[in-house]
Amino acid sequence: MPDTHQPDLARHFPPEAPLGSLALLRAVIRNPLEALPREAFEQPVTRRTVLGRERLFVTAPELIGQVLLTEAESFAKSEAMRRALAPALGDAILTADGERWRWQRRAVAPIFRPDRVKSLLGPMLDAAARTRDRWLALPSGTTLELGHEMMRTTFDIIVDTMLSGHAAIDVARVEKGITDYLESTGWSIALAMVNAPAWTPYPGQRRAARARDYLRDELLRLVSERRRLGSEREDLIALLLAARDPETGQAMEDRDIADNLLTFITAGHETTALALTWAFYLLARHEEEEERLVSEITAVTGGAPLRPEDLAALPRTRQAVQEVMRLYPPAPIVARAATRPVEIGGQRAAPGTTVIIPVYATHRLPEHWPDPHRFDPARFAPDAARGRHRYAWLPFGAGPRICIGMGFAQEEATAILASLLPALRLRPEPGFDPGLQMRITLRPTRGMPMRVTRR
Ligand code: HEM
Repeated sequence: MPDTHQPDLARHFPPEAPLGSLALLRAVIRNPLEALPREAFEQPVTRRTVLGRERLFVTAPELIGQVLLTEAESFAKSEAMRRALAPALGDAILTADGERWRWQRRAVAPIFRPDRVKSLLGPMLDAAARTRDRWLALPSGTTLELGHEMMRTTFDIIVDTMLSGHAAIDVARVEKGITDYLESTGWSIALAMVNAPAWTPYPGQRRAARARDYLRDELLRLVSERRRLGSEREDLIALLLAARDPETGQAMEDRDIADNLLTFITAGHETTALALTWAFYLLARHEEEEERLVSEITAVTGGAPLRPEDLAALPRTRQAVQEVMRLYPPAPIVARAATRPVEIGGQRAAPGTTVIIPVYATHRLPEHWPDPHRFDPARFAPDAARGRHRYAWLPFGAGPRICIGMGFAQEEATAILASLLPALRLRPEPGFDPGLQMRITLRPTRGMPMRVTRR
């Protein structure tokens, strides 16, 4: 099949002409990717003053390294992201800064060590097999909402591996809760940009608050149940219950534990589910590549069920996952605020300046990615990747705040893809355009309906 994947960039972003303040705010509410200036796709660093406030867009990999790694101490999480996420996630690992962040990160690190992640491959493959069997039981040609199916699968995995399988949480309600919550985050970002007070009401706020309350109450119940009943398990709840603040020796309050659990549940399943949704979409449009992956997988398994040790022997499948996240980074923008005066690529930033790293744009820089809109997993073969700047690809961020679940997510995505591809074929309606919208994460605007048939 010819390569028909046309660049989203040309269709959606960036705007043809610079946007005025009002149009910019409207774009932020609709889809923050549309609010990125054209220069942020082309120049190493771009300065913009929006409603009297300075913003720097840092696109070049070497400058990104300065913000996220070498001078990471000079930056905190951005006000807009905090404002969008803290009402749901509190002051937990993703949203906290400084010492408070550091000790929360240390407390949970053991569960993400490579040997621990390796021990979770079995449960990941089991969850993938459950999804495969559910699909195989459907009449051939059934149309599925793939995003929903992938959320269900990765939710199954996060609850099983991190919370020792507390199946009482209603996945459909959680999924709807997350979508409802994220739906209004464009508003929180826009309100932060105009410096509106935190109590300013906005559309969707009540629905978002209801979603947050449901999620938080469920998790508080889980924490108090664990305190009451105890458990031998060394899961995430156990690590959080055992954590002590190094300065005060204090344990975490139930509320802080619940905030962290919610952070891990949301950050840990929605992102991977989106990566997989985009993966099936791209592979359906690149059948030759899909066949290549199926051959690689069946050559390793001989048609038998995948075993944990097989996952290390699937280089092309892993490269395909990396290439999917280049074109569709589930977290397409990373943001910071300068906490002291800094200079980035010749641009001075005063304390308080918002620094935006448009990962989506960095991943399409032609000087690092020739023919950047083309889907080509071979870019990640060791020979091709050698010499490329290490921050030209950063779907998981970089530096001390790099995604703690990076290894987990890549194993999980490979396990799910490799379990489903050899058994089933997924196809969108011919000509279907899912659209592309940032809601903190990168979602298909029109969902991802796919027809599923046996292979
Ligand atoms: C494809 C899947 C994933 C993607 C693309 C992704 C992306 C990211 C990114 C970009 C950040 C850094 C944000 C920043 O610097 O501001 C981050 C942080 C984080 N991620 Fe992930 N993530 C994924 C999967 C996971 C999984 C599976 C987990 C947990 C099981 C997880 C938990 C976290 C946490 C707790 C943080 C905050 C870390 C800190 O600030 O110390 N993520 N993720």
